[in-house]
Amino acid sequence: MIISIVNQKGGVGKTTTAVNLADQLARRKQKTLLIDLDPQGNTTSSFGIDKNEPEHTIYDTLINNLPVEDIIIEEARKNLDLIPSNIDLAGSEVELVSIVSRETILKNVLESIKDNYQIILIDCPPSLGLLTINALTSSNSIIIPIQAEYYALEGLSQLLGTVGMINEELNPDLYIMGVLVTMFDTRTQLAHQVSDEIQNFFGDLVFDTIIPRNVRLSEAPSFGIPIQEHDKWSKGARSYKALAREVIKRLDWEPKKLFE
Ligand SMILES: Nc1ncnc2c1ncn2[C@@H]1O[C@H](COP(=O)(O)OP(=O)(O)O)[C@@H](O)[C@H]1O
Ligand SMILES: [Mg+2]
Repeated sequence: MIISIVNQKGGVGKTTTAVNLADQLARRKQKTLLIDLDPQGNTTSSFGIDKNEPEHTIYDTLINNLPVEDIIIEEARKNLDLIPSNIDLAGSEVELVSIVSRETILKNVLESIKDNYQIILIDCPPSLGLLTINALTSSNSIIIPIQAEYYALEGLSQLLGTVGMINEELNPDLYIMGVLVTMFDTRTQLAHQVSDEIQNFFGDLVFDTIIPRNVRLSEAPSFGIPIQEHDKWSKGARSYKALAREVIKRLDWEPKKLFE
């Protein structure tokens, strides 16, 4: 199962979700591969890997045909492999344009390794450019994190439009596994309002698990560790643990297509 964490808005919790969901899935004995597809490389550094340390990154595989086996960092944690990224990838949006079958490069790359894993998670960049299109074309499903703040639903129609286009043109089987409410502040009326709005719009696609705003979650990356290692009793750790449980349950769901 290949799952993209996608939302073209920055700062909604994609990377935090990719890192901590991958970590929790691996702890639940799911053999997991986490792919950093954002030039910011924050997923890579969140596991304590210096972005400048790996000799090769996803960029070399996508653009220079380096075998994917050569860029995988094995056992970043138990049961968890990682494909790193760094700023090199920033140029790829432009470089991909001139490549034949530019939308399916990642899909072809993953073909040879996808059976080695129960779950592959892809952390997407904050845009709907060719990198995200490659992620969506490679994936079975997506998780959309939405921040419980003003303008939460802004840009969603564009995102869903892109998913619809991918469904029609490149990947008819892509479906939405779930919508995740992130950075929820229980004390504010606004957060509750926004959460209700998301619920009304997406119905039971919304995960029961809500990720609270939790300072421990924002501290962990600076130590290069997932939340579970930073403070396992924190609300953040407990919520990502619950999310992993829900995701594993949803692996067996009949795909629900938004567009029929
Ligand atoms: N639930 C949360 N509580 C507090 N801070 C969070 C939470 N989720 C993410 N953050 C912080 O918000 C910022 C943006 O989150 P990030 O996961 O990088 O978003 P994205 O990948 O969508 O740009 C980061 O500094 C991150 O540490
Ligand atoms: Mg990110």
